[in-house]
Amino acid sequence: MGELYKVGVIGWPIEHSISPPMHNAAFQALGLTNWSYDRMAIPPDVVGPSLRTLRDEGGYVGLNVTVPHKQAVMRFVKPDERALALGAANTIDFRDNTATNTDVAGLIDDLRANAVALEGEHVVVLGAGGAARAAVYGLVHAGAVVSVVNRTPEKAQVMLADLTLSAGIRGVPTRSLAEAAQDEVALIVNCTPVGMWPHEEACPWPDEVPFPYGATVYDMIYRPRQTRLMEKAEASGGRVIGGLGMLVRQGAASFAIWTGVEPPVEVMFQAAEAALAARQ
Ligand code: ATR
Repeated sequence: MGELYKVGVIGWPIEHSISPPMHNAAFQALGLTNWSYDRMAIPPDVVGPSLRTLRDEGGYVGLNVTVPHKQAVMRFVKPDERALALGAANTIDFRDNTATNTDVAGLIDDLRANAVALEGEHVVVLGAGGAARAAVYGLVHAGAVVSVVNRTPEKAQVMLADLTLSAGIRGVPTRSLAEAAQDEVALIVNCTPVGMWPHEEACPWPDEVPFPYGATVYDMIYRPRQTRLMEKAEASGGRVIGGLGMLVRQGAASFAIWTGVEPPVEVMFQAAEAALAARQ
């Protein structure tokens, strides 16, 4: 038996994570039998010492980082330009103690895989949390014309001011939904948890605001697979894409960093789908 390569995901809580079956299926498919991926519940007050222990005593090659630790881990690693721009990291490589954020690649790669045009297109981002930050960053870099709509406009303004300082992103307006919908809208990206299981009846697009005809919806939610927002878009002649592809592709980008091997995206997608189906 050769050397073992361990990776995993830390979060709090973490039981819901489908990353372990997804990555382990990828290792298996490529014959990387000395690699394994597990999940660890780490409370917020011990993130720093836990990272040290996992690296120095646990022998971990790297980690994925999920809610609520993506900001906290930044202090204990060397973040790359993208993680610095977002103020959050989701992938650590302990071999050089660097960290990056693959959420941006997850979203943009999935939009490209679905042949969604971005260059010069008006894209409405719903939300102003960490997921929205990654979306605005990626979409602006892909040449989209972005507007941000958020329940609390002040929070969107803070997010955009941060992105101006950290990434030089300028000229992205905060608007009301009704205002944003008046312009031609090519794509709506839902970065809020509204409509997520177990509150499937909720929709981030209220009935009183006319839905832009033909707009594509990318919903970062993947449970349920078809959200109310997606139903609304389909009823208005739009294409819809759920968020499972983003989850898979951010994982695939992490996999490539740790292993240096081209990730088997289709295998990972199927494993993620199976793991989700098993918990319905
Ligand atoms: P994450 O970091 O995972 O993106 P977050 O920081 O909790 O998550 O951000 C969630 C986003 O969804 C926020 O923009 C939040 O709006 P506020 O800034 O007004 O809090 C939005 N959101 C959450 N619940 C919502 C709801 N019921 N209606 C509208 N927006 C909601």
